Amino acid sequence: MPSNTLSVTDDRTGRTYTFPIEDGTVRAADFRRIKEKDDDFGLMLYDPAFMNTASCRSNITFIDGDRGILEYRGYPIEQLAEHCTFLEVAYLVLFGKLPNSKELDNWVFEITHHTMLHESTKTFMEGFRYDAHPMSMLISTVAALASVYPQASHVQDPDNRLLQIKRLIAKMPSIAAMSYRRSLGFPYVYPDNDLSYTENFMNMLWKMVEPKYAANPILARALEVLFILHADHEQNCSTSAMRAVGSALTSPYLCVASAASALSGPLHGGANEEVIRMLDEIPNMAAIPAYIQNVKAGKGRLMGFGHRVYKNYDPRAALIKKIADQVFGVTGPNPKLDIALELERIALQDEYFIARKLYPNVDFYSGLIYQAIGFKPEMFTVLFAIPRTVGWLAQWQEMITDPEQKITRPRQIYTGPRALKRLVPLAERDMEAAKV
Ligand SMILES: CC(C)(COP(=O)(O)OP(=O)(O)OC[C@H]1O[C@@H](n2cnc3c(N)ncnc32)[C@H](O)[C@@H]1OP(=O)(O)O)[C@@H](O)C(=O)NCCC(=O)NCCS
Repeated sequence: MPSNTLSVTDDRTGRTYTFPIEDGTVRAADFRRIKEKDDDFGLMLYDPAFMNTASCRSNITFIDGDRGILEYRGYPIEQLAEHCTFLEVAYLVLFGKLPNSKELDNWVFEITHHTMLHESTKTFMEGFRYDAHPMSMLISTVAALASVYPQASHVQDPDNRLLQIKRLIAKMPSIAAMSYRRSLGFPYVYPDNDLSYTENFMNMLWKMVEPKYAANPILARALEVLFILHADHEQNCSTSAMRAVGSALTSPYLCVASAASALSGPLHGGANEEVIRMLDEIPNMAAIPAYIQNVKAGKGRLMGFGHRVYKNYDPRAALIKKIADQVFGVTGPNPKLDIALELERIALQDEYFIARKLYPNVDFYSGLIYQAIGFKPEMFTVLFAIPRTVGWLAQWQEMITDPEQKITRPRQIYTGPRALKRLVPLAERDMEAAKV
């Protein structure tokens, strides 16, 4: 009868150690028992970039990267994208169950009634340079909310946590819209409680002098689906940042600012902006093979391709590709879509991409849709941060309430000098330098 254990022999000492295997995992701390001498620190595991280390137990999001499967709380992303609103999915991701009508109405009411920003936020916004990137404005402004809500630092109080969760989900679109209007020099638009989450966001972005903003229902639904697809993605770079910063019991506003900072990098949420820049660099179909050749030669990457976890088609990219047709039906065709489709077709037949299992990821087509809806590329990562706030907060809450979690503190392998050197006083160092 095979036992659910791992036996390891240390060839330095000939000793064998046996560790339990649970959920296909061994505990790294067990390896500390492996010592050459009694006063050794014990064996560490070296895993730069956490390529094979589980940092937590989580029951929020399931990904099977080899099969291209994504589920929130056990529901396939395809079903959620077809049948739910974003706030319904947000409820599911946060509370672990789909709401009934009464729960949903109450939840929507609560979020809708927290969308206003403190009036001083306007003055804060005025401090940014006219050309500030909207993502920088979003990150700084959400961090500044920690000063507006100092009581948010009581993170062990569940009621207090829930209040901050509602505020953050409600206010992220308001901050995002304000940063957008600031960059255009337009007056800010207040939230409209009659509208849905995405319609209200569009209202705050684009309402001009009309008495009531009416969003195009196809575009509003497309944005809603994009928000659903971006709501969570388990332990990615920004979520890990959220958990790491949150593990110090930091204010959730500062945790979200940290997570959003991680998201802004071009290898993470910034990739959708890079995809559009890449497509701009390819003038026509005939230029695609040469572009791919350059990528294969190591001159840049095919942005929107490849993923740490997905070694198959990203299921979110497949859904986004489907809604692209509906959006372009309203906005007119985007010639860049043809270039993107052809890039994908050629890449998926190319040995370089096949061998490395590089497929389009969520960012490959999302930028094209955002652009068609009317967003500038600088806003794309902001559009990622708004729905991902839900995932960050669900993961933060899970981390805070997990009795196994502690302040995040990885180990290192020290490679620098030890304290065997004599400290040379500054005057002596100057004399040495003068001799050269
Ligand atoms: C997402 C990403 C950071 C994952 O990186 P990773 O898991 O660390 O994978 P690696 O960087 O080790 O890449 C593995 C191999 O594929 C290649 N590769 C990965 N993504 C590539 C891309 N987009 N274009 C060309 N080659 C790529 C790497 O050069 C490497 O090749 P090598 O083994 O010959 O050195 C990476 O695929 C990437 O940079 N993609 C483009 C940015 C992007 O779209 N990000 C959004 C993610 S949702």
